[in-house]
Amino acid sequence: MLSKQMQDALNEQVKIEAQSSQVYLAMASWAEIQPGIDNITSFFYKHSDEERMHMMKLIHFINDRGGFAVVPSLEQPTLTYPSLKHAFSELLAHEVYVSESINKLVDIALKEKDYATHNFLQWYVAEQIEEEALARTMNDKLEMIGDEKSGLYLFDRDILNVTVANNTQV
Ligand code: FEO
Repeated sequence: MLSKQMQDALNEQVKIEAQSSQVYLAMASWAEIQPGIDNITSFFYKHSDEERMHMMKLIHFINDRGGFAVVPSLEQPTLTYPSLKHAFSELLAHEVYVSESINKLVDIALKEKDYATHNFLQWYVAEQIEEEALARTMNDKLEMIGDEKSGLYLFDRDILNVTVANNTQV
């Protein structure tokens, strides 16, 4: 059975994952109308779907442990970006924020000796290490490319491999 504090904190995370899905969905929609970045567009759509899956896992866990998962209202995300670099920089900042939030949940679980929730959260801890690393790699690559069109072509081509590699690890 979840404590009230643990349940509220997990519900807050439901909102964060849902909001993450919205943020990346907006990035995908923006990317879709930019020329020549079809794979990057797919990456954002897929990332948005993954965040929804993160939210769903939390919802089921809260309800399975005798709590009540609250479906949250969401804020409108940023709709457009001055450049791809800005979008990926925002993606990294967002993932760092999500990791901090997961760490706070782990803290609460440990303080309460709620080992079931602690165990459940380890999946998110591992996922965040991977997502932050992926976001950092992409930011580094974009930094190297600068304004080069040919570099962007390769980045768009290679992002598919990065996504596939990421999937096999999940
Ligand atoms: Fe569910 Fe990308 O954090």
